Amino acid sequence: MNRIVFALFILLGSGVVCIKSQAPLAAASLRSPVQGPGQRGKKIYDQTCMPCHQIDAGGVPGLNPPLQKSPYVEGSSARLIGIVLHRLNDGVEISGETYSNPMPAFSRVLKDEEIADVLTYLRSHFGNKASPVSLSQVTRIRHGIQK
Ligand code: HEC
Repeated sequence: MNRIVFALFILLGSGVVCIKSQAPLAAASLRSPVQGPGQRGKKIYDQTCMPCHQIDAGGVPGLNPPLQKSPYVEGSSARLIGIVLHRLNDGVEISGETYSNPMPAFSRVLKDEEIADVLTYLRSHFGNKASPVSLSQVTRIRHGIQK
């Protein structure tokens, strides 16, 4: 009987040690720069936008417009958030090329934080230089509080 109690004690003990030893690791990976907004934004770009807009954001001539040297990317962040949330089917002209395929809406695919991260990434990469997009602005626009 004593042995069983002892064995249980050891099992419980090692469980506690195990949980304790993993906690600092988890905390460290949350803080690591690899998980910062830029890296999260890149991951979302690669998974969600890249298939159409391409790895260098150069787009596909005649089909999907570029996300570099684009007034939609570097201009109003409210308009940019609106495009990603609600789709775009107006046709655009960028650097003299016209595009008229529709772009799907991402309001059910991406969370507000993911939209903020991917747009912040987009506005600071591929030669773009525009201010970050905040989570609260995405949330306000999703709920129609700000256009
Ligand atoms: C299925 C293909 C597809 C995907 C995926 C896609 N787009 Fe688009 N996107 C388009 C097309 C096509 C247009 C042009 C729409 C039009 O002409 O009205 C466009 C237009 C745009 C525009 C405005 C024009 C420009 O080039 O600046 C922005 C900004 C944009 N997309 C951002 C994104 C972002 C950010 C993502 C990822 C969250 C994304 N798109 C995912 C196809 C796509």
